[in-house]
Amino acid sequence: MLFRSQVGIVGAGPAGLLLSHLLALRGIESVVVEIRSRAYCEARQRAGVLEDSSVRLLREAGLADRLDREGLQHGGIYLQFDGERRHVDFRDLTGGRTVTVYAQTEVVKDLIAKRLAAGGAIEFEVSDTVVDQIDSDRPVLRYTSADGVRREVICDAIAGCDGFHGICRPAIPDGVLTVRERDYPYAWLGILADVPPSTDELIYAYHGRGFALHSLRSPTVSRLYLQVAPDESIENWPDERIWDELQLRFALPGWDLRQGPVLDKGITSMRSFVSAPMRYGRLFLAGDATHIVPPTGAKGLNLALADVAVLAGVLDRLVHGDAGPADTYSATCLGRVWRSTHFSWWMTTMLHRAPGADDFESELQLSQLRYVTSSRAAATSLAENYTGYPAPGR
Ligand code: FAD
Ligand code: PHB
Repeated sequence: MLFRSQVGIVGAGPAGLLLSHLLALRGIESVVVEIRSRAYCEARQRAGVLEDSSVRLLREAGLADRLDREGLQHGGIYLQFDGERRHVDFRDLTGGRTVTVYAQTEVVKDLIAKRLAAGGAIEFEVSDTVVDQIDSDRPVLRYTSADGVRREVICDAIAGCDGFHGICRPAIPDGVLTVRERDYPYAWLGILADVPPSTDELIYAYHGRGFALHSLRSPTVSRLYLQVAPDESIENWPDERIWDELQLRFALPGWDLRQGPVLDKGITSMRSFVSAPMRYGRLFLAGDATHIVPPTGAKGLNLALADVAVLAGVLDRLVHGDAGPADTYSATCLGRVWRSTHFSWWMTTMLHRAPGADDFESELQLSQLRYVTSSRAAATSLAENYTGYPAPGR
């Protein structure tokens, strides 16, 4: 079956969904295809922290009703090391900037509900997605729908928002892309727990046994992470062992970590990856499809949203006959991408214990942690990067 749509979007993660909404606001129609079910996309546990500019972007796009009601505004983080917990006060250091704790699952639910209510086309549970003729003016998106019908959509442009393991980046011919990447010798084991958070703001803990992070999802649900070996298997981590390890790494006299039933658990590998350019012909890549950061800086979701804020404007001009801005898309996005890549790498190396690391390395890490929690200049740098960069296009 043959269709026509102005923009074909591969992937119903935050990038693909927000792009289809921003295009609709500009009167541009799109079709989103997604291999997973709606329920899976809405339940996949991932990010939790939105930068100021991401919140503003969602608000200006009419997507923040629930975010404004339920999001938890945080004016800082805690860094714990050497038996002490020190506060980094973003509001004070940056002239009032904050971040908002609002789970990616909720951003995705809000976006799907908004698109479907507006009659937007999202096809879940597709298979065999293919992008073709991407170096022509009429790129083609092919897929098999959930009811088994092979479909072909002729587009003006295709957006590859299909995450790191998607099919769009590999569709670009060999030799076009330059990849810069780094693997880290550790992974994160994350749990979602049905227990009120034991902290008012996130705690990033450096410990001889490895890094730990206490985040949250709501006044009644906590999200916690532990550094583990990259080849670790979740079967080795019954709930009791996870809580014991969290207790050890967060221990502080006079403070208790509350425990509760584990609702979800999983292991995530850590990687920095930047592929450039973010466009080939009429295929535009956005979000994790073209760059990955380790989660320590809380940047991945924010970068994905920032990319598509730029891309919506570029595609608006393209479908109306002006291909000029398409040439600047990649360079416009990559400035922010590299800043976030550096910050995420820096936070990661400051806070994790590399296997085999010697005392020299741990003394350097501790010195850096003391510096960012005692020098106003160093703390301001962390705060500026964590709360984020100006909204794209400003
Ligand atoms: P994705 O969310 O990966 O979406 C891509 C979509 O494409 C998926 O739904 C996938 O099923 C679909 N797809 C794939 N292949 C195909 C195909 N062939 N056909 C059709 N559809 C396809 N970021 C932050 O900003 N802050 C944080 O606090 C944070 N914490 C994190 C914690 C963890 C444990 C993890 C894993 C990530 C975290 N991130 C964080 C990163 C953030 O979750 C990602 O950067 C974000 O999901 C990127 O969105 P995306 O839309 O680009 O890609
Ligand atoms: C999360 O809440 O999932 C989260 C928060 C901060 C991070 C990473 C993940 O740096």
